[in-house]
Amino acid sequence: MSDSRPTVPPGAPEFENRDPNAPGFWDERFERGYMPWDQAGVPASFKAFVERHAPMPVLIPGCGSAYEAWWLAERGWPVRAIDFAANAVEAARAQLGAHADVVEVADFFTYQPPFEPGWIYERAFMCALPPSRRDEYVARMAALLPVGGLLAGFFFIGATPKGPPFGIERAELDALLAPHFELTEDEPVNDSIAVFAGRERWLTWRRRGATKA
Ligand SMILES: C[S@@+](CC[C@H](N)C(=O)[O-])C[C@H]1O[C@@H](n2cnc3c(N)ncnc32)[C@H](O)[C@@H]1O
Repeated sequence: MSDSRPTVPPGAPEFENRDPNAPGFWDERFERGYMPWDQAGVPASFKAFVERHAPMPVLIPGCGSAYEAWWLAERGWPVRAIDFAANAVEAARAQLGAHADVVEVADFFTYQPPFEPGWIYERAFMCALPPSRRDEYVARMAALLPVGGLLAGFFFIGATPKGPPFGIERAELDALLAPHFELTEDEPVNDSIAVFAGRERWLTWRRRGATKA
């Protein structure tokens, strides 16, 4: 039987907010410094992807502390990082320093970026959303990306009875994305933090030409 209440690992503090669809859920966790998803750095697969591409406009939804936004901004890439939790954006601004203006408070499902993204970076965002929002996630990604645009990053594979993180079966992920995207890269990840270890893949999906949601 499925249960959408968040998993509370042993030793985790008790939280008031139990709805990951609400900014307050994430605000509370940032405020209390409980962020088991936070890598405190830039993953190797991300760096490698950046190295093999020319600069293009990048959108980072559900950015959290936004280490990757700093990495891109330092290299002169156009980047916007968004998060609907004000405390996440505050953490990101502190981390971004001189690049703090690349992050803003916004809800991914209504946000209109100031550019047409060439790449939307995924890390621990899809798995932060309750599974009931997956269709909406894919539709929004498809609407934001032009034909040939890339949805690339880390996907948390394997269904979880509770979340976040809400893992997804690989076949379900492929079926969700295939109508709008073609898979062009599928690689293992070797530097996952504990909460994602052994269950992350780096996937690159290219926006197909046939439909625009
Ligand atoms: C698990 S955290 C991951 C943060 C970051 N991507 C990372 O890898 O450290 C998920 C983040 O998504 C944000 N989030 C969830 N739903 C959102 C939405 N609809 N729009 C924007 N941000 C959202 C949360 O506030 C939270 O900071």
